[in-house]
Amino acid sequence: MEVDKKEEIDSESSEQVVNPWEVSAKDGGKIDYDKLIDKFGCQRLDESLIDRVQRLTSRQPHVFLRRGVFFAHRDFNEILDAYEKGDKFYLYTGRGPSSEALHLGHLIPFMFTKYLQEAFKVPLVIQLTDDEKCMWKNLSVEESQRLARENAKDIIACGFDVTKTFIFSDFDYVGGSFYKNMVKVSKCVTLNKAMGIFGFSGEDHIGKLSFPPVQAVPSFPSSFPHLFPGKDNLRCLIPCAIDQDPYFRMTRDVAPRLGYSKPALIESSFFPALQASTLLSSLQLLKGENGKMSASDPNSAIYVTDTAKDIKNKINRYAFSGGQDSVEKHRELGANLEVDIPVKYLSFFLEDDAELEHIKKEYGEGRMLTGEVKKRLTEVLTEMVERHRRARAAVTDEMVDAFMAVRPLPNMFE
Ligand code: TRP
Repeated sequence: MEVDKKEEIDSESSEQVVNPWEVSAKDGGKIDYDKLIDKFGCQRLDESLIDRVQRLTSRQPHVFLRRGVFFAHRDFNEILDAYEKGDKFYLYTGRGPSSEALHLGHLIPFMFTKYLQEAFKVPLVIQLTDDEKCMWKNLSVEESQRLARENAKDIIACGFDVTKTFIFSDFDYVGGSFYKNMVKVSKCVTLNKAMGIFGFSGEDHIGKLSFPPVQAVPSFPSSFPHLFPGKDNLRCLIPCAIDQDPYFRMTRDVAPRLGYSKPALIESSFFPALQASTLLSSLQLLKGENGKMSASDPNSAIYVTDTAKDIKNKINRYAFSGGQDSVEKHRELGANLEVDIPVKYLSFFLEDDAELEHIKKEYGEGRMLTGEVKKRLTEVLTEMVERHRRARAAVTDEMVDAFMAVRPLPNMFE
């Protein structure tokens, strides 16, 4: 059995730092994901697992699997072993409602979770950590709750099935069995350990210290007695970005001591900013609002609220190009696809594998110019954002209430 590695938070700026509050690469370069896998002690998601997903679900694996966006896991193979024998599982993901408008990077875990829910026909719980954002961002309780409901609309717009999905706000839902599990978890984690995993210091307020159990316990089915009564052994799979790993290292560490199964994880890399000088995740927008990081710049990301014109302008003006300075040089040398943001973005959002390969080849060998690639990306993103806008506009308050109602889901495994 694998033992989760402990991890110390780096404070040295010369090292890459990845934790729930900070993502920064070494010397401003790229995140070294191989190193991260080693350091965190998670496993690489390899071809053979992806093939297994294809076999078990009888459908083509999601683009994010085929193209390595979700690249690491913990015990995902065990979830598949059990599924193969007819044992289902449930999905758990979440969002910290820190801002009104979501950008494309925020949608990635939800798009992927929707695919998993459909492909495996399993229930899903979505945690809105309004308490977390209230404590970390100095938002009022009321404002965090308002943002949670607004963000719920964007999440619902991703197409989740209301008969299989429970969305909850911590402020509304924490209590009862959920709270009992929080207390059980809290008793297993010393202050020293929390400081080691999360980098808390004596200057942090105690609200921060109290939060990790809140994010931990949705991993346990007994936290949802209206959904999983008598199903204490149901396993949990968590799709998330890899910066959330510390929460779940802690959770997996304490689970056996409580007699619970460890949650399995499937983890993604980060979505790059348009300028590629930084990485986008919700936490960087958070930092950006302190004026520290360039992600506070609305031009570093495409938001789901952007107009077609905004999208076109941002891509044309700001998307970092790996093309050469002059057409002559470009025809001769071709584009550097490693650093090219339009190609990166297309590899996240252009479904057609053959078209993507074609673009990479033509652009990489200089027959296609940056402008043409940017034009194609503009089309793809405009369509996606338009579709999202229409879907979100169709989400009513009644629908939000329906997803958030504490109720049994009788057909959740069908
Ligand atoms: N802490 C996460 C954030 O700030 C929100 C979250 C809660 C989450 N539970 C989760 C994310 C489970 C992924 C999986 O966005």
